Amino acid sequence: MVAINKYVLGASMVGTFFGASVLLKDYVGGGVCPSKAKIEGKTVIVTGANTGIGKETALELARRGGRIIMACRDMGKCENAAREVRGKTLNHNVFAKHLDLASTKSIKEFAKNILKEEHHIDVLINNAAVMRCPHWKTEDGFEMQFGVNHLGKNFKPMELLSKTSK
Ligand SMILES: NC(=O)c1ccc[n+]([C@@H]2O[C@H](COP(=O)([O-])OP(=O)(O)OC[C@H]3O[C@@H](n4cnc5c(N)ncnc54)[C@H](OP(=O)(O)O)[C@@H]3O)[C@@H](O)[C@H]2O)c1
Repeated sequence: MVAINKYVLGASMVGTFFGASVLLKDYVGGGVCPSKAKIEGKTVIVTGANTGIGKETALELARRGGRIIMACRDMGKCENAAREVRGKTLNHNVFAKHLDLASTKSIKEFAKNILKEEHHIDVLINNAAVMRCPHWKTEDGFEMQFGVNHLGKNFKPMELLSKTSK
């Protein structure tokens, strides 16, 4: 039997662990978008943009020069996230707007203001959603997940914004 030097064995174990961690991180992290496209002159609405995938999407699109409308239900969180995106990208065309998809009144108000204030909308990213919440109800009395993830996202004024976007 060949004796392995304990230092070589230790280094080999550290190397294997490091390599496996890098491969696992790549696998779990998913793919990276290779496009370098800029979107100057394009207006993009991202719902649920104060955190998670929505915030990362707003950040990346702001980096690419778009006019970004971050639409969230909590204006405190929304303003903070918009400030962070402006700071990181130096794109000052990043705005926080109120939108609660659990309220048809809020959706109508949001769509009305957007159509009044924006010259054009190019992309609507209907990202916001709620999952595995307690048995809450929307303002209009629907079960929360059904109300936000299905009814809110597909409610007529949101559809209108989506049709306005090209
Ligand atoms: N993460 C995943 O692995 C995964 C997998 C498949 C699909 N998705 C989908 O990807 C999207 C984003 O996922 P995520 O992981 O980034 O979720 P997240 O971190 O939970 O973020 C969800 C966003 O939606 C907002 N939201 C919830 N209810 C809302 C309402 N009534 N009105 C307006 N905004 C509301 C949240 O606002 P608050 O911060 O105020 O709660 C938050 O900004 C979701 O549509 C999700 O279903 C995610």
